Amino acid sequence: MSGEEENDYLFKIVIIGDSSVGKSNLLNRFTRNEFTDKTKATIGVDFGTKTIEIDNKTITAQCWDTAGQERFRAVTSGYYRGAVGAMIVYDITSKISFKNVTRWLNELREMADPNILIMMVGNKSDLEMSREVPTKEAQAFAESNKLSFLETSALNATNVNQAFEKLLTDIH
Ligand code: GTP
Ligand code: MG
Repeated sequence: MSGEEENDYLFKIVIIGDSSVGKSNLLNRFTRNEFTDKTKATIGVDFGTKTIEIDNKTITAQCWDTAGQERFRAVTSGYYRGAVGAMIVYDITSKISFKNVTRWLNELREMADPNILIMMVGNKSDLEMSREVPTKEAQAFAESNKLSFLETSALNATNVNQAFEKLLTDIH
């Protein structure tokens, strides 16, 4: 395409994690600054893109969002093909969703590029009263697995842009 600048980048990011942890809302908060109270479970794959500036470079993040529920998943190797970053999401009010991060890491190891950069996100930080996953425990897990880590809230927007931007900065 003519007119394309040398400093334009397109990065594919995949968002994975258990059903209802808030993957689609994180995507919508990041790409459209929107939140939906009662979201329908994703069926198949959704996409969102957002262009940001990092170090005077124009970076377009093409984010792929799939269903956490097995029966709605259409994940083939195509889902992970070309992905340079992954966001693994759990819900801080759900211990099981945190435990399952290990399963999502294994899927990445099986199906994604070995150099993929990974950001682990503990979402729903606005629900502090229902917290089941201590921040310290998640931090320790992230360190021992060499993952970046942030707690976010798609509802009140805390750390959402930061999480995507950290991942994109690490990639670029
Ligand atoms: P699947 O598509 O089934 O894999 O789920 P998902 O991970 O995409 O979750 P989704 O974004 O659909 O959110 C599930 C529910 O959690 C919805 O009712 C959201 O409104 C709610 N939710 C998402 N993020 C947050 C958050 O940060 N805080 C709170 N309180 N609720 C959230
Ligand atoms: Mg979804």
